Amino acid sequence: EKIAVVYGGTSAEREISLRSGKAVFNALVRQNVNVDLVDTKEVSPLQLKQLGYDKVFIALHGRGGEDGVIQGVFEYLNLAYTGSRVLGSALAMDKIRTKQVWQSCDLPTANFVYVDAQAEYDCDAIIEKLGQVAFVKPAREGSSIGMSRVEGAEQLALAIEKAAEFDQHVLVEKWINGPEYTVAILNGQALPAISMKTQRSFYDYEAKYFSDTTEYLCPCGLSETDEAYIQKIALAAYQAVGASGWGRVDVMRDADGCFYLLEANTVPGMTEKSLVPMAAKAAGISFDQLVLEILKTADS
Ligand code: DAL
Ligand code: MG
Repeated sequence: EKIAVVYGGTSAEREISLRSGKAVFNALVRQNVNVDLVDTKEVSPLQLKQLGYDKVFIALHGRGGEDGVIQGVFEYLNLAYTGSRVLGSALAMDKIRTKQVWQSCDLPTANFVYVDAQAEYDCDAIIEKLGQVAFVKPAREGSSIGMSRVEGAEQLALAIEKAAEFDQHVLVEKWINGPEYTVAILNGQALPAISMKTQRSFYDYEAKYFSDTTEYLCPCGLSETDEAYIQKIALAAYQAVGASGWGRVDVMRDADGCFYLLEANTVPGMTEKSLVPMAAKAAGISFDQLVLEILKTADS
């Protein structure tokens, strides 16, 4: 059996995917799997079947790799691939649609306004609705790319323009004060939660990949009841958008003690320092074992 780890690609998260893909590839090589690394910026995924691959480990983040597009290619080619199928990938990639699904299932998520950056929008009315402080996010991006924390209508207008450089569909979300937690999901089960603490204004790209002062706690410091609660809502949230196999759901706790679901990631970061490997380790699953478990999701 010959496995391709697809990585790189052309999304804004290419650099992170290069790191995830290499870590996954190295783990498979250590376990004597017949595997190659394939950068989809250079090799078309349409060729993988002809090139003799039997199965694909998707280590692509962001658009084109995590949003149902490449999953659709592999469905069409009848080539086994890891993780969520087309629908779950596409829905989870879109933070606005994701929140609409969660609201319809009574899953807790912060109030928000959808902005089409190419149409007219009223920043004063948005601030009126959500409060002075808000989060602005491109609907379909990852790793906090294009995201801002804003105070007031003037900053909001600038932040919408910035987010719109990545996606015309912009999510403006009520500010939740944090801290942020994350719950990894593997084979229909939630792993131990992790808490992330940053000294920056939020857990942004810098805090995620470069800062030495970002703190990760696992055990996360929540009471047993609270941790069980966020594991339960994270799993329900993942399943609600049709995501499957493995992934990670991010959650924030507000000053009032309530938890709010932020987003679902169907191909979360897989560097040795990433969050899913950290949660797996806390559950007694090594990085190498985790990679093999994820590979098995291709057969389901
Ligand atoms: N989008 C990044 C890779 C993550 O969720 O880990
Ligand atoms: Mg994400």
